[in-house]
Amino acid sequence: MNDTKLTDNPAVPEFWLRKDPDEAFAAMRREKAVHRHDMPVSAWYPEGGKGFWSVVRYEDVAQVSRDQETFTSAFGTEIIDNTVEMARLFGGMLNMSGDEHAHHRAIVNRVLTPRTVEALSDTIRDHARRCIDRVAARGECDFMTDVVGDFPAQIICELLGVPVEARQRLVELTGILLSGYATADVFEALTAIISYAEGLVAQAREQVSESASFLRKLLTAQVDGKHMTDHEIAVFFALLVSAGIETTATSIGQGMYALSLFPEQRRRWQNDYQALAPRAVEEIIRWATPVRNFRRTATRDTEIAGQPVAKGDKVVMWYCSANRDERAFERADDLDFARTEEQHLAFGGGGPHFCLGAVLARKEMIIFFEELFSRLPDIEVAGEPQPVASNFVNGLASLPVRFTPA
Ligand code: HEM
Repeated sequence: MNDTKLTDNPAVPEFWLRKDPDEAFAAMRREKAVHRHDMPVSAWYPEGGKGFWSVVRYEDVAQVSRDQETFTSAFGTEIIDNTVEMARLFGGMLNMSGDEHAHHRAIVNRVLTPRTVEALSDTIRDHARRCIDRVAARGECDFMTDVVGDFPAQIICELLGVPVEARQRLVELTGILLSGYATADVFEALTAIISYAEGLVAQAREQVSESASFLRKLLTAQVDGKHMTDHEIAVFFALLVSAGIETTATSIGQGMYALSLFPEQRRRWQNDYQALAPRAVEEIIRWATPVRNFRRTATRDTEIAGQPVAKGDKVVMWYCSANRDERAFERADDLDFARTEEQHLAFGGGGPHFCLGAVLARKEMIIFFEELFSRLPDIEVAGEPQPVASNFVNGLASLPVRFTPA
């Protein structure tokens, strides 16, 4: 029943070393809706683990994502097997379900609002300009390390009120957190971030100034008379830094790359930037799908597209495959700002865990590309992109670019 070839198994490095992982998913979609994959010992999972079901078509990913009663997040959302305690520490609300998740989400929704994001607009623009200005005279550089660089990290730090002098260390720790799968270093980085955040939360508790900080608002927000504990807020802080940095950097980097592959789309966008921006950004996020998968666990015997799934089985939703499903999107591999089809699933399949940072991510992208095109209008890709080795994120480690120096 299991796929035996490592190159057919998206859990392992060998799959992502193939030249054509997108084509491999297309072949899986053509063959059947749900596949069985092992989790053998690999560089990413030194202890291996329990096999899982891979859901690869748009409709089924959306269905699994929306049905938390049958497909719960409470046992972890990474492919790897986890204890409930570890899943809690690593993901907080991301790895909760039911009433408990709804309660956390209701509190966060009061604080992380579109208005909060709007209020950050000028700060986002200042950081975008700083990132672009630092390379503008050079004529060529690496887009990921030199231009995008610390942009999304600085924005999350501004949101969370992290003092400037502490940011570099926090970004390093987040890098370690996102770099590995099940290593001791990752655990250490996470505990360091949480204990740092607990210190900030304690300071926020003492805060008396009139304009309450984000953490202070989280401390005081109540739903049904209950609020989040200091530790819960610190875990949420860790979730925000890990969820909000790499994803946005990937969207901008992959966006730059996609625009180089589809120059006609780029021309259209640069000619009518503001009008096309919301559509362009959404299409870039679909095309890039920065987060490739999240996992659920079946709470009862059930089935997905006719495939029986037993209680306790792990079910992995491959957003990268759903977003290229030809059943949902015409010429799904093309970047096309004129699309009018279904909502993409890059922020999740529309269920109760739909990305809480979507408004912020879109805002960061719109402002960043606006500043980029106005300062370096002829910036172009000048070499092959270097992907990040991962089955989880679609990041770029490097993307050479050149431009007329400004
Ligand atoms: C383009 C950028 C981004 C992408 C593609 C992305 C993707 C996702 C996805 C797929 C989920 C669903 C998880 C699930 O269903 O299990 C999610 C949840 C989440 N995201 Fe994002 N994300 C992005 C940016 C951000 C940013 C900037 C933040 C922080 C401000 C953020 C914070 C969160 C949080 C807190 C959750 C958990 C929500 C919950 O469990 O209820 N994300 N994201």
